[in-house]
Amino acid sequence: MYIEMKEDKDARWFELECVPKEYIFSEEYRPQNIDSPVCDSIPVISLAKSEAANEHSQPVEEILKASQEFGFFQVIDHGIPEKMMIDAMNVLKEFFDMQAKYASNGTVTPKKGYIYTTSTDFTKDGVYLWRENLKHPCHPLEECVPLWPDTPPRYQEVIAAYLVEIQKLSSRILEMICEGLGLEKGYFKDISEVQLLASNFYPPCPDPSLTLGILPHIDPSFITILYQGEATGLQFMKDDQWIKIGAIPNAFVVNIGNQLEVCILSIIMVNGSSSYLWMQIISNNKFKSAKHRVVTSKHETRRSIATFVNPSPNCIIEPAKILVNESEPALYKPTQYKDFVQYNNSFGDYTAAIQKALDEES
Ligand code: OGA
Ligand code: NI
Repeated sequence: MYIEMKEDKDARWFELECVPKEYIFSEEYRPQNIDSPVCDSIPVISLAKSEAANEHSQPVEEILKASQEFGFFQVIDHGIPEKMMIDAMNVLKEFFDMQAKYASNGTVTPKKGYIYTTSTDFTKDGVYLWRENLKHPCHPLEECVPLWPDTPPRYQEVIAAYLVEIQKLSSRILEMICEGLGLEKGYFKDISEVQLLASNFYPPCPDPSLTLGILPHIDPSFITILYQGEATGLQFMKDDQWIKIGAIPNAFVVNIGNQLEVCILSIIMVNGSSSYLWMQIISNNKFKSAKHRVVTSKHETRRSIATFVNPSPNCIIEPAKILVNESEPALYKPTQYKDFVQYNNSFGDYTAAIQKALDEES
């Protein structure tokens, strides 16, 4: 194992002159256009305007348009204090720095209610990603917090405060999506929750053209709210091209997950009192969940905090009533969201953590 062969026993796995072969992706996956221009057309939407009663529709329209055209947008003037965002990023930096001491031997540390993985814990076709990752469930918040990392000691307090704000922001954004689509007010209120936090640490890499921080994927969420500080590296696919998302200080990157896009599904609350057939309203390719990935950088360290706003486990997913008739019977049985997650391994390597959160809730 190369870690044991290194001369400097204190060096971290990425402190190398060249990329070890275990991290080199095949041509097919390697980032080709790593220096493509930063996309300056990705919408940057000020939420401040939504406070002004007369202009209420402006960010709503902007969010709707961005969700349709890109599946990605950034929000500014969102009201979350800068200090809280920086604090959250700093505490995660401390967490990852501490793992260098305790977990640099490449073993997974599934501990309590969180999962930390270093670069060698995840492979795609036998190749390692250039990143470390921490993830944990976040709902219900007060039950999850004590199970999160307790080193650094302020981790739980700082991240809990951050998540309270993210919850509010996500409700605001979903409410605007709801208004834009013409759905009843509060439509998402009881069916969505900030379920999972995934934080990534992407150290500098000697040759970014050979490696990847995160593979191309679509998020299995309603929406994902990502804080990336001032780092670059995130790219999304538009018209078969990888496009960089520029870093805007204090902004959040929001992307549409496949749960907002899925065509044949609708969501009906378990109590059956009201049926929500909105998925097919947006199914006419109205919303886009864009594929994205993270490329590495020679000099820059990237840290990110992704929060996934997902359907609540008490949702039932079934074929939209309007699509079902005698000649075209339902192809799927109604399934509770949590069973759906388990059956489909929907969250990839997050499935176990999500499933645990769902099981604990029921
Ligand atoms: C994710 C993701 C991007 C990043 O966790 O789904 O896309 O910058 N993360 O870490
Ligand atoms: Ni993602």
